[in-house]
Amino acid sequence: MKKHNFYAGPSILSEYTIKNTAAAVENFAGTGLSLLEVSHRSKEFVAVSDEARALVKELLDVPAGYEVVFLGGGASMQFCMVPFNLLNKKASYLDTGTWASNAIKEAKYFGEVDVVASSKDANYTYIPKGYSVPEDSDYFHFTSNNTIFGTEMRYDPDVKVPLVSDMSSDIFSRPIDVSKYAVIYAGAQKNLGPAGVALVIVRQDALGHVDRPIPTMLNYNTHIAKESMFNTPPVLPIYSSLQTLKMYKELGGIKVLEQRNLDKAAILYDEIDRNKLFKGTAAVEDRSIMNVCFVMNDEYKELEADFNTFASAAGMVGIKGHRSVGGFRASIYNAMPKSSVEALIQVMKDFENKH
Ligand SMILES: Cc1ncc(COP(=O)(O)O)c(C=O)c1O
Repeated sequence: MKKHNFYAGPSILSEYTIKNTAAAVENFAGTGLSLLEVSHRSKEFVAVSDEARALVKELLDVPAGYEVVFLGGGASMQFCMVPFNLLNKKASYLDTGTWASNAIKEAKYFGEVDVVASSKDANYTYIPKGYSVPEDSDYFHFTSNNTIFGTEMRYDPDVKVPLVSDMSSDIFSRPIDVSKYAVIYAGAQKNLGPAGVALVIVRQDALGHVDRPIPTMLNYNTHIAKESMFNTPPVLPIYSSLQTLKMYKELGGIKVLEQRNLDKAAILYDEIDRNKLFKGTAAVEDRSIMNVCFVMNDEYKELEADFNTFASAAGMVGIKGHRSVGGFRASIYNAMPKSSVEALIQVMKDFENKH
């Protein structure tokens, strides 16, 4: 039976990415060696890394003055690298969920942190609005997509200080105005490749303004100066990421992906709103087009476990909501075909017909 992969991350990758990675594990770039055993300094791998960084710039329309690096440590490492490199006195953060509050916790090790607003009061089911960001902040940090709670900021906020964003779960899902940002970072394992690498886009002139010494590995300038080759980078995840980036280009770029994502999300939310058994958990205006969170309607609460079993039997994988929210979460990242979203919708209709 066909499996439909709704995992939140690591999550679905395109067939193109998986097939090309598998082929390179057998024979990388005609070298007669496996991707797993080649030097990261071989000319063939340096070409992979260079092409991946160049494609990120092309696809996201990254202006001059920015550098792209691939770093180990996942997105969580960026929670500390960002303030280490950028927070001199004070930074502002928006608290929109678990990952945002993890980022806030790390920033507090480095200076004053102004949490300008939080939606914790409603278990992060909405994006705070109407907050103001102090102009003496070194930067304003926000999480563009809250993977666990299914809320998303599909815009680049207008504030008077440089933006820093954790775009782990929605990078490449919509065009962004990179010029507003000092740093954009994203763990690879949703819209890019396998776990093990984070993509970081840094504005060069945002660096060098903090008074503290920065350990070599945690200093963005180290990795920028060595073009992501200061130490051994995660070779396989970077190779796979390149395959995904090539596919994005072939498909027509980020605007095409955005439209596909909007279409997929619209049909799934329409079903959640129509089906008497279910209801969405995120505020309608803040609904994520990447992670669609829903629960059983109050009068059908006792059917939750049954629906999970029913959906699993029909090939749906990974739709259980995060343990802090419960219910269901369908992660419908870029690589998720519309046909899988339609299959889930059919399962929801079939389950409704039974009750
Ligand atoms: C928005 C967001 N930020 C950060 C993280 C943490 O990423 P990592 O596990 O790569 O440290 C995740 C993981 O799911 C995430 O969804």
